[in-house]
Amino acid sequence: MAAPKYALLVTGAAGGIGSGFVSEFLKTPQASTHYGLYVVHPSQPGSLAELLKNHAPASHKYEIASLDLSSLVSVRSFVSTLQPRVKAGELPPIRKLYLIAGGIFTSKDTEDGLDYSADGLEKMFAVNYLVNFLLVLMLLGSMKESARIVFMSSTTHWPENKSNASHVTKLEHNTVWKDVDMLANGKGNVPEAETGKKGRFEAGMRRYGTTKTLLNMFMYELQRRLDKDSQLSKISIIAMEPGAVGGTGLFQAHTFPIWMWFILCYIAPLIQTIVVWFMPNGFMRTPQQVGKDLVFAGWGKGLKGATYLDGHVVRDSSPETHDVVKQGKLWEGSLRLVGLSDAETALESWR
Ligand SMILES: NC(=O)c1ccc[n+]([C@@H]2O[C@H](COP(=O)([O-])OP(=O)(O)OC[C@H]3O[C@@H](n4cnc5c(N)ncnc54)[C@H](OP(=O)(O)O)[C@@H]3O)[C@@H](O)[C@H]2O)c1
Repeated sequence: MAAPKYALLVTGAAGGIGSGFVSEFLKTPQASTHYGLYVVHPSQPGSLAELLKNHAPASHKYEIASLDLSSLVSVRSFVSTLQPRVKAGELPPIRKLYLIAGGIFTSKDTEDGLDYSADGLEKMFAVNYLVNFLLVLMLLGSMKESARIVFMSSTTHWPENKSNASHVTKLEHNTVWKDVDMLANGKGNVPEAETGKKGRFEAGMRRYGTTKTLLNMFMYELQRRLDKDSQLSKISIIAMEPGAVGGTGLFQAHTFPIWMWFILCYIAPLIQTIVVWFMPNGFMRTPQQVGKDLVFAGWGKGLKGATYLDGHVVRDSSPETHDVVKQGKLWEGSLRLVGLSDAETALESWR
């Protein structure tokens, strides 16, 4: 059997949407040509192994790596083990990079739920945004020249969207951008005093939506830099919002009002299975449907770099994410926070 030509790296591979994607990917012919590098949280070693054992075709080669994505040190050590293997030809170059890991992380101990990573950063800023910034920049040198990167966005990044008005921010505050350091320490969103919303759910969702805004801004800034790069100009980035997918680990009881948590965990999975039959790109979707959409995001023909997808439909991200001045400030601040060095990225114009 021929050795796989490419690698596919997936973070959050054992989560609700991650597992949906892996099971859909395994049905495609690409499962035979792509080596699977499945990255899971150290707390989740078993569930993905079971899925792969039962559903991977015999031709699919893979490994499961355990990595804590809330730590910059862990990410650096993970990449520094991976890179030499690609260089030595032991692992094929990465052709698809799916950054699915993420979450709504709040502390049980405070009213606004502010929680921090081991690096002292607001936890959602760290896991949902900054770690992806570092991971992508460090992995570029191990990627195939025509590779694709897929980010998980969310409709919560739109403060102007009326469906977010109850929890994200009042409509008059239609910007989420603040100084990077304020965002990194979790104090940078629209202040509670202005919104009148200060509970763990509202503040937590605002911080969550903010991190997805930052991810979209990062996509536009990085794609411009890639387009000008003499070696990496064929790499494209796609951001995708998956709709509402109930029953995944995203919905934690201590963050959501209990009635909402119950609906999202137990009622929504029943309804979404039916809804998705009639409206595959409707508001409610299943992990399997999102898995198919993610396969499309990775392999779909005609998708240009810096495309924003709602499921499998091309849409646009919020107007604020297109602000190039803010994108530039985010880039500079993120570089400072991760302390990137020349040797750590293959991107020519990274400063
Ligand atoms: N479900 C939705 O309605 C929805 C809507 C919009 C966007 N999204 C996005 O879709 C993605 C997947 O979410 P999901 O709904 O599938 O939730 P999920 O089941 O909780 O999946 C998230 C995955 O990320 C992993 N993860 C979290 N923190 C990590 C860390 N520090 N290190 C390594 N892995 C970590 C989780 O592992 P552990 O469980 O072990 O922590 C889990 O496997 C997220 O980026 C989310 O923001 C989801």
